[in-house]
Parts: sequence; C-alpha cells; structure tokens
Amino acid sequence: MRSAHRRPGVTEVQRLIMEGGRRLHGQVRISGSKNAVLPILAATLLTDEECVIRNVPRLRDVAVMTSILRRLGAEVHAEAEEGEQVLRVCARRLRTHEVPETLVRRMRSSIFLMGPLLGREGRVRLSYPGGCAIGPRPINLHLKALSDLGAVIEERNGYLEARAPVLAGATVHLDQSSVGATENAMMAAVLARGMTAIYNAAREPEIADLQGFLNAMGARVSGAGTDVIRVEGVGRLRGADYRVIPDRIEAGTYLVAAAITGGHLVLLDAEPSHLESPIAKLREAGAVVTARGREIHVQGPDRPRAVDIKTVPYPGFPTDLQSPFMALLSLAEGTSIITESIFENRFKVAGELRRMGAQIAIDGRVAVIRGVHRLSGAVVEAMDDLRGGAALVLAGLAAEGRTVVEGVRHIERGYQDLDRKLLEVGARIRRTLNGAVLTRRTAILPAPPPPIGS
Ligand code: EPZ
Repeated sequence: MRSAHRRPGVTEVQRLIMEGGRRLHGQVRISGSKNAVLPILAATLLTDEECVIRNVPRLRDVAVMTSILRRLGAEVHAEAEEGEQVLRVCARRLRTHEVPETLVRRMRSSIFLMGPLLGREGRVRLSYPGGCAIGPRPINLHLKALSDLGAVIEERNGYLEARAPVLAGATVHLDQSSVGATENAMMAAVLARGMTAIYNAAREPEIADLQGFLNAMGARVSGAGTDVIRVEGVGRLRGADYRVIPDRIEAGTYLVAAAITGGHLVLLDAEPSHLESPIAKLREAGAVVTARGREIHVQGPDRPRAVDIKTVPYPGFPTDLQSPFMALLSLAEGTSIITESIFENRFKVAGELRRMGAQIAIDGRVAVIRGVHRLSGAVVEAMDDLRGGAALVLAGLAAEGRTVVEGVRHIERGYQDLDRKLLEVGARIRRTLNGAVLTRRTAILPAPPPPIGS
C-alpha cells in the first residue's frame, strides 16, 4: 500500500476502495452546482438583508465559503429541507473587509469575493490566491475588470489591497473568456454608478445563475449566456430566496460512470441543456443518451469507441469533464486525442491511470489515449484536481480487482456523497477513514463548517 501523502498535522487518511467490474444500474439525484453556488454565496455580501439559498450541495468548498462569510461578519445558518441543504445568509454588517489567508489558500475561488466586498464596503484585502494542480491560475483579468470599474489595487508582499471609494460603470473588455473574472465584474458592477458592459464575457450556465440571483436581489443584469453582459447600477440590493441550478459537471461524471461500466443510469434533477456537448461525445462513443425533462437516461456501450475531444469555453466541451472522459477513453476501441485548451496542466491524472494499465502519451496540451481491453485495480492518488480524482474513481469502477483512491478530500470539494450515490446504483465501493468504513446508504448530513479560526 502506497504511503498516503499526509499534510503536516493531518491525521485522517480517507480512502475510496472499489472492486471493479459491476455494471451500474439505477437512479442518481444530481446535487446543486458547486460552481454556481460559490459566486452566489459571495454575492450575498451585497445586501444587508437575509438571503435564502436552496439546493446548496454539501461540499468542502461550500463549507470553506461559509467560513469566509462568517469570518467577514455574516450570519450563516444551514438547514435541511426535503434532503436538500438550505443556507440562510445575512450580512447585516461586516466586521472586516479582509479575507483570511488560511481560507483563501484552501479555495482559490475566494478571488471572487473582491467584487462584492468592493461593492459593499469599497475595499477588500486578501492574500494572493495561488495556483493549483491544473495551472498557475492567474487573476490578471479579474484585476483589470475591477480596475476598469474604478478600483485601485495594490499588490504588497503577497497581499492584494483594493479600494474603490466609488465604483463607476464602465466598458470592460476581457482578453479571454474567464468564468471568475466575468462573475467578479458582474458583482462589482451591480452597485456601481451607471452602466457597465462586459465584453467577451464567459457564457457558462453558472453565469446565468448568478445573473438570476443578482436580479432577484433587485439588480439589473442582462446578457448572461451571451458574450456581452450589461449591468445598470442600482442604489441598493435586497435579500432574495433563490434555488441553485443542478451541477452539470457532477451530472456529466455520472453519465461517464454509466458509459465506463456499460450500465444504465437515470439522472434526476439534472439540466440536459447544460450538457449538450458531453452528451454528443458520449453518443459518438456509443452510449445511448435520452433527455426527458429534468431526467437524463444513459445506457453505456459494452465497449466505448474512441473519440477526439477539445476542451473549449461553454457551450463547447467543458474542461471539468476532460479527466472523466480520459478514464472512459482509456478503455475505448481505438485511439483518442484530447486537447486541453483551457488549463496549462490538466493531464496529471494520466500518470495514475497509467498505473492501472492505461496507454496515454502526453505532449503539452495534447493527450493521445490508445484504448486497452482492461484496466487493473491499483492504489492511486487524487491530486489537487477534484476532477482527476473523480476520473480515478470511474476507472476503479471498470478496472479488474481492487482500486484504492487516496486524497479523497480533494474529491469531496466537488462531489457530494460520491460513494453513497455510487453504492446505491450497484458499485462495490466504500469510503474509509483510518481504516473504518464510513459509507452508508443514508444521506450524510453536512459536515459542520470548520470552526472560525481554522
Ligand atoms: C471556473 O474556474 C471553474 N471554477 C472551474 O472549475 C472551471 O474549470 C473553469 O471556470 C472553466 O473555465 C469555479 O467556477 C469555482 P477561468 P475559473 O477564469 O473561473 C485563465 C472545477 O473543477 N485566466 O474561466 O478560475 C485561466 O488560467 C473548477 O470545478 C487568466 O489567464 O476559470 C484559465 O486558463 C476547476 N487570467 C482560463 O483563463 C485570469 O484572470 C479559464 O479560467 C483568469 C483566468
């Protein structure tokens, strides 16, 4: 057994242990979208009234965002309603404009707290969010957009200090499509004076969900889903009651789980229109996929066919499903080519898949995958990319023998109850903590957010 890489002071060793070879069969309920709920939670800082956010997924990243909001002075109460998590957030008054470094380090998406804090307080201080496994993750587009709107930003010994006595509507040209920069600009513009136009805006569904939430608060935002977003600044925003869209990446991951095991799954509470590109690729690979309202039915092939994939901004093939598809194509008939055009370094999982017998050659942003007939179980490590971790679980579902996936905490950042949901559709999987089995069929209640100060 490979020794688990333990972070200093981290005693818990969580593992996902799978016996592969079972065709999955049954229903999977899709949770709320991580990448929609994180900016929406940040946007609750824009009002001193209570916001009710529904369909909130129980994820580590949500727990971190909750801790940040509390540290800033917001009250956050988690409730369970018909099995879903509801967060009541009220930032009546903020006690600080500084985002704690320990929490920024745990979640680089903290960067999109800049927009709301500038809109609400006129200032924000946070440590420079680092890169991660998938690339340097620069924030130049965020800083340029906020500067265009009137923020004065200084970078001083690892910290960003931004002030904006007055945020003024502006024309913002984003040099390239960036989800986070688009969201930051939207959240800074809603309370700015005058009109803002954001050109080359990202078109992801999570942008439209943020627009929906901001407008429910009384903002005047339009154009989400196109590459020009317009915002008419207003004097103040009120609380809102809002339900987050389903997680299209979680849904896509389960579609691949059916395809890689030759199983049949019905995804409930999904949004098929957010998955047109991945569904087209799965059909090309031989899966039968049918959408019925908010359900997606998928029948995997006995053996997938090779397909070529290039990740591009929405509505093209999403980079977040690139690793799950790499696992699928490792078993395909033929050779597939994946081109990762969004992030610089998002093929790390290839090394772990090779340890299971995959034949993958990497050349810069291109991966060439020569399909094999079978993968063999192994002890593998989910690096700091939750989608790579999910890909290893998918490979373990199809591999012969036992697969042990370490680094489960990365996976829990973006997948709620992954082991339970897979167990319920026939996977032989269990989650262990220091050897004790944790997986159970009942829903796992949300882990309480880390205490303030952690
Ligand atoms: C969001 O990240 C998602 N995260 C990512 O999902 C997703 O992969 C990505 O969008 C897709 O574009 C959240 O929404 C929380 P970007 P974000 O800004 O906003 C470069 C997951 O697994 N760039 O759209 O950080 C950047 O380096 C995560 O759920 C700049 O150069 O991504 C990348 O190459 C991973 N300068 C490209 O743009 C900037 O200022 C797209 O990044 C910002 C980004």
